[in-house]
Amino acid sequence: MSNLKINFAGIKSPNPFWLASAPPTNSGYQVMKAFDMGWGGAVWKTMGVPVVNVSSRYGAIDYRDSRMVGFNNIELITDRPLKDNLKEIEAVKRRFPDNPIIGSLMVESREEWHQIVRDVENAGVDGLELNFGCPHGMCERGMGSAVGQEPKLLELITSWVKEVARTPVIVKLTPNITDITDAARAANQGGADAISLINTIQSLMGVDIDRMVPYPVVDGKSTNGGYCGPAIKPIALNMVRNCAQLGAEKLPISGIGGIENWRDAVEYLLLGAETVQVCTAVMHYGFGIIRELLSGLDDYLKNKNIHDVSEIVGKAVANTTTWENLNLNYQVVAAIDNSKCIQCQLCYTACEDGAHQAIGLTENNRIPYIIEENCVGCNLCAIVCPVEDCISMVRKDQGQTPETWKDRLSAGNVPTSFNDPLAGGLGHHIPDPEDGIKKN
Ligand SMILES: Cc1cc2nc3c(=O)[nH]c(=O)nc-3n(C[C@H](O)[C@H](O)[C@H](O)COP(=O)(O)O)c2cc1C
Repeated sequence: MSNLKINFAGIKSPNPFWLASAPPTNSGYQVMKAFDMGWGGAVWKTMGVPVVNVSSRYGAIDYRDSRMVGFNNIELITDRPLKDNLKEIEAVKRRFPDNPIIGSLMVESREEWHQIVRDVENAGVDGLELNFGCPHGMCERGMGSAVGQEPKLLELITSWVKEVARTPVIVKLTPNITDITDAARAANQGGADAISLINTIQSLMGVDIDRMVPYPVVDGKSTNGGYCGPAIKPIALNMVRNCAQLGAEKLPISGIGGIENWRDAVEYLLLGAETVQVCTAVMHYGFGIIRELLSGLDDYLKNKNIHDVSEIVGKAVANTTTWENLNLNYQVVAAIDNSKCIQCQLCYTACEDGAHQAIGLTENNRIPYIIEENCVGCNLCAIVCPVEDCISMVRKDQGQTPETWKDRLSAGNVPTSFNDPLAGGLGHHIPDPEDGIKKN
């Protein structure tokens, strides 16, 4: 097996897979079961002054045959007394000394922060995670995302924690902010050892159109909650990448959001995360997904002849640039494999109405074909095609010297007015508007 051990800001873990702070880490019973099955670490359900929760609490978006593509909750932090949580943390640490437990914390005053940090560290946690991300309920009380959205406040509270903390401090960031790097920089300024992201996205899951009340329904009323699950992964990946590109201000990153399988995890690692945290997928499928996560990551590393997981951390960051640095001379066009085509014509409809009129249908049997001179290589047909590998994108440029928008700007080779002949992209054929009316 490859070496999956990691050292995250001084926290040693047998593998990079941690349970995120959430219902799966609510008790010693659950965390011991998870460690038994192979999870590397666990961020305990956020501790603070215990809360009272409502019923019901969760909502979900299903898409076609997929359940829980997006998940939402209006749950607060732990509703269990602190002393129970501490007793169970001690018990887990006794049985699993090599698996890190991170104490997730959320309180208000400086004195409360000092007290709870001492309490959880005395119980044996390996690190602390400051929950500055919860976007519902707690923020209305001045905590959670109310802190994460105010970089100065985030910096101040982080520095309070650092006054007494003996273990590494991870600041958990909220995505409910214009630029997450402002918060990441503030965490650094406050003395944090690492950041984790993302917490949930503020959301309303939908509306019960008969009762006329949004989900989840609590006695005829609802409230905004936190969105998570597979649907948020692209948003989280972008934020992780942004934080990974912070240069000298960069802190070690624990990536969170929509991780369900080993590929998702590898994507986070490649974009700069050193550990990953999982919540919704465990709430959906249970702790057993760790088997696929571990074996999939191990196989991936072996196939790439990489011995240590830390070697892949951040490997995709340098390949992520700004638009102005992309090669304008690179050109792909779609190619349809007729032996695989099931003639559903989804590619034709999508391209005809939603893109560039680059797919035609043969007169006799209405089989789609590519009109290359119109194809801008946008990928839409390949994305809508329901058959794997039926439509591929084939490189068509002649390998000219790369030329970016930035190059053109510096050469003065860009349009300067609305009618400038330099505008017009590839100059592909756009049908006469009257043709569209006639067709309908
Ligand atoms: C029901 C529920 C409760 C959660 N409670 C907490 C919490 O107490 N503290 C915290 O930092 N994050 C909490 N989270 C957020 C998760 O830790 C995680 O950041 C988020 O769900 C994104 O990961 P996922 O897409 O794998 O679910 C909660 C999430 C859910 C769904």
